[in-house]
Amino acid sequence: MKKVCIIGASGKLGLYMVQHALDRGYDVVGVCREKSVRKLDAFKGRITIIPGMTNDRNIIKEAVKGCDGVLTVLVPWGVQQYSSGTAQAVMDFAEPDARLIFSCGWHIRRDEQDVYSWKFKALVKIFGSIARLFRLVELDDQVEACRRIFASDTKWTVVRGSDLEEGGSQGLPVWSRHVGNPVLESNLTRRIDFALFMVAALENDALIHEAPAIVGCQTPSAIAHTVKNSDNTSP
Ligand SMILES: NC(=O)c1ccc[n+]([C@@H]2O[C@H](COP(=O)([O-])OP(=O)(O)OC[C@H]3O[C@@H](n4cnc5c(N)ncnc54)[C@H](OP(=O)(O)O)[C@@H]3O)[C@@H](O)[C@H]2O)c1
Repeated sequence: MKKVCIIGASGKLGLYMVQHALDRGYDVVGVCREKSVRKLDAFKGRITIIPGMTNDRNIIKEAVKGCDGVLTVLVPWGVQQYSSGTAQAVMDFAEPDARLIFSCGWHIRRDEQDVYSWKFKALVKIFGSIARLFRLVELDDQVEACRRIFASDTKWTVVRGSDLEEGGSQGLPVWSRHVGNPVLESNLTRRIDFALFMVAALENDALIHEAPAIVGCQTPSAIAHTVKNSDNTSP
């Protein structure tokens, strides 16, 4: 892995991913909204920035050219197919063998074995309805984006984040193939470690065509239930 593109580089998750990618010695290309370029000032001269909306197909085509890996922050802003437009452009224009890593939340269902509590389902429903009412966020479009990713034969991984908090790194999160696994019960991950998982996934072929649901490795449920193996996973 030599060159990676980070789509949504100026956001909270994106900034952490830029740092982790530079720490690993990758050449970094970052895409962010024009008005957010200054948020990347700390990396001036060390990364290439391509300003633009992440669902602009021409921007994505230019940004992913020659990249061995693409890290995409999937966000369902507005009612303009922002998530699905971004995901589709990445899949259409990334190099054929590139590793594609996408971020989302536990609310994305991979299959019938994902089990949700009534409280979780209620919160997603309430948040989704209010956000849609005000045309702020289109959760269904993030679902559609992931549906297309799951159906694609690109080398994708969809990382499903728990609730997030700020703070120093605790190490690589643990993961489960399915929401509902007891290892995830604590439902909390440091954002810096979510980013670490995304960047580490670039070089972990065991995660190709997986949608790991992650949780902080120091949380009580992770400590209680993690099966110790090299892959940091719980079945
Ligand atoms: N927040 C959580 O608790 C949580 C939980 C689980 C999973 N996740 C997942 O984690 C990822 C990152 O989420 P985050 O909450 O940490 O946010 P974040 O990293 O701050 O990312 C927000 C992104 O959205 C962009 N953005 C903000 N407002 C926008 C607008 N009106 N139009 C277009 N783009 C806009 C931001 O770009 P600018 O820099 O230009 O503003 C930034 O790239 C997402 O995939 C999310 O699904 C989040």
